Amino acid sequence: MPHYRQTGEVPRKRHVRVPERSGALLFEELMGEHGFSHDSALLYHRHSPSAVVAAEAVADRRQVAFTADAPLVPRHLRTAKLAEGGDAVLGRTRLLGNEDVLVSWVTASQPSELYRNATGDELVYVHGGGGLLETSFGVLAVSTGDYVVVPCGTTHRWVPDAGGMAALVLEVSGHVGFPTRYLSGTGQLLEGSPFCERDLRAPGEPLECDGTDVPVLVRSTGGLTRHVYDRHPFDVVGWDGCLYPFALSIHDFEPIVGAIHQPPPVHQTFAGPNLVVCSFVPRPYDFHPGAIKVPYHHANVDSDEVIFYADGDFMSRGDTGVGPGSITLHPAGFTHGPQPGSVERAADQERTEELAVMLDTFRRLGVSDAAREISDDDYPWSWAGRHSG
Ligand SMILES: [Fe+2]
Repeated sequence: MPHYRQTGEVPRKRHVRVPERSGALLFEELMGEHGFSHDSALLYHRHSPSAVVAAEAVADRRQVAFTADAPLVPRHLRTAKLAEGGDAVLGRTRLLGNEDVLVSWVTASQPSELYRNATGDELVYVHGGGGLLETSFGVLAVSTGDYVVVPCGTTHRWVPDAGGMAALVLEVSGHVGFPTRYLSGTGQLLEGSPFCERDLRAPGEPLECDGTDVPVLVRSTGGLTRHVYDRHPFDVVGWDGCLYPFALSIHDFEPIVGAIHQPPPVHQTFAGPNLVVCSFVPRPYDFHPGAIKVPYHHANVDSDEVIFYADGDFMSRGDTGVGPGSITLHPAGFTHGPQPGSVERAADQERTEELAVMLDTFRRLGVSDAAREISDDDYPWSWAGRHSG
């Protein structure tokens, strides 16, 4: 979905023989979506990207069973109660999931293996710290507040900073893009969309690494496989196209506000298969003299709503204990709104400093045992004023 970029050495014509500096021919790879009928990139490798010398199945300890949220209750998941450490791929704890998306939390302290997800794009929201995303397209530095989109099939490695990197990870069964209503017929972000191309960051130069017998972990629908490559996959001297990993900082999302409360679609940032992702960012409150500044009660009848609370004060959640690092799940079938006292507390406020990421799924999410273990048992009853603290 991002616009055209070119990095490194790319020949003037595509699909022609290209000698590299040594005189040997480069290996051209076309990486494309939807059967090469959608966005694509051309990458120029020094070595064959197909030269695999070994393959072994790997047990995926992240694999969990998701079971129905039954009895149906809203949930408050406290990520601070999850174990820290590991890497940003195998260290993920899966909390919620369905056929379209897996929602995980990770606090990474060490580099990951080389990895690629062959089942869909990954959308990573960096909640704390940062690091480097090393990819066959080059290196992307990421930090707190970044959404990072790693396209399906991109070989990459996460290298957290010394202080680590905490992140919410969405593994999507398909592709993540921008809402079509933000785009012109030829794909440019329109005036009026809450961010533009200048806000998108991509690898700026190729990353070339030497090495032989290099392992790469591959997630497919059949599970995890570790391939061993004859030569290091980071051997791309140049690439171009409209398909590449990129970052968009939530702090570059320009909020749309109004005299009265604006509906959730004004916060939309990404669209995916049977899901949307929205950003709630610091903004002036509604300015009608009688405006109710926190959200009205709502029944999002086709969606399960997941909100990750990143920073700031969450006026609508009252004294429920929801704060930075919290995840709430408000499932379809449960009408929800501000907790008691929230409307009154917001009446004299002129701004909200809240920062949050919302995932709406159009199919029901299942809940993992890990999510149940960090659920606040009092949260379902907090609208009735019986929350015990
Ligand atoms: Fe909601």
